[in-house]
Amino acid sequence: MGSAAKPKVVLGVSGGIAAYKACELLRRLTESGHDVRVVPTDSALHFVGEATWSALSGNPVSTEVWETVHEVPHVRIGQAADLVVVAPTTADMLAKAAHGLADDLLTNTLLTARCPVVFAPAMHTEMWEHPATQENVATLRRRGAVVIEPAVGRLTGVDTGKGRLPDPAEIFEVCRRVLARGADALATDLAGRHVVVSAGGTREPLDPVRYLGNRSSGKQGYALARAAAARGARVTLVEANTGIADPAGVDVVHVGTALQLREAVLKAVADADAVVMAAAVADFRPAVYAAGKIKKKDDGGAPTVELVRNPDILAELAADRALPGQVVVGFAAETDDVLANGREKLRRKGCDLLVVNEVGERKTFGSEENEAVVLASDGGETPVPYGPKEALAETVWDLVLPRLRPAT
Ligand code: CTP
Repeated sequence: MGSAAKPKVVLGVSGGIAAYKACELLRRLTESGHDVRVVPTDSALHFVGEATWSALSGNPVSTEVWETVHEVPHVRIGQAADLVVVAPTTADMLAKAAHGLADDLLTNTLLTARCPVVFAPAMHTEMWEHPATQENVATLRRRGAVVIEPAVGRLTGVDTGKGRLPDPAEIFEVCRRVLARGADALATDLAGRHVVVSAGGTREPLDPVRYLGNRSSGKQGYALARAAAARGARVTLVEANTGIADPAGVDVVHVGTALQLREAVLKAVADADAVVMAAAVADFRPAVYAAGKIKKKDDGGAPTVELVRNPDILAELAADRALPGQVVVGFAAETDDVLANGREKLRRKGCDLLVVNEVGERKTFGSEENEAVVLASDGGETPVPYGPKEALAETVWDLVLPRLRPAT
């Protein structure tokens, strides 16, 4: 791709210790074919120097409106951008952006940009929770900016709490979504809703070192969780063995086995508007867990492992809905007679929607792409062509939306 065709991204960096994490975001953006111009504030340069930004972006770095004045950088950089992302965004930067201050190149760029703007705040919990900051965030969101919820965890020094910069990989996912969907990415049609998503594959322990598992990567479930959060929902993601970083702005519950997943999902759905079971839940578990490692026998024989059935969580959620009108969505992997088997499974499980994947070579497991048909209990059938898992995630929420009970 020639540089003319590359989407132009402005990476604004304001002065927080998390500035070093923006290097990773920058690397992901450039490696995925974006033309990135870094605009650090003066204080950001105390944390990461100009040479690093310039080398990683392959572009000149400017902070001053007074540099190369003939090029009018304070106007041109914002005007030319397809996306502006500010990571980290300090409390001070949120305040400036909300109030339209323009005392350096980054704040000028924010005023001249007509493209989507993503803010990834990072600060101490007290600063994030302060009413002034919260009002600034609300103002920016009302105007259409995407303000990512900070993550919870270790902050600078000994403090922990909400205020950490989300994982750069997750900020990158938000940027990708916003660039791919344009104005649609800013729709908050799931605002005020609570949705629960399960993702990954459960592992059923045999002994302290072995388990029965499956090949689910969890990518589809994560795409669903990210999409719902971006559309304004409060999202609980129940995750089994994926190893993927927590998505920005999502409450994540980590589990291992099918029984743990069931417990976490049943707890989370108590006040949920919708639940999507994207996890590959083991249908069977070893009847006995050996407290010590199962050893080889001298007679050359192999042990017989007795299995017992795990509860079918999806069927249980559908049969015994925590709230009237709660939308229940399942996934099915089929190799033959995909639609007929899918229809039968939809009826048997009693869910509202069933996303039917054809599994086979190259398809579904671990891949970035997916192809599916979404079957509805009212007879609807929505084919989703081969494409990114994000696209399937958006289609699932598009189909959930009209089925949601009226908002309270
Ligand atoms: N599921 C569940 N609890 C289980 C097994 C599966 O909730 N114990 C859910 C999965 O999260 C998924 C759907 O049910 O949404 C998959 O149904 P399943 O009956 O396992 O279908 P397949 O995986 O397609 O397998 P099979 O056809 O062999 O039944």
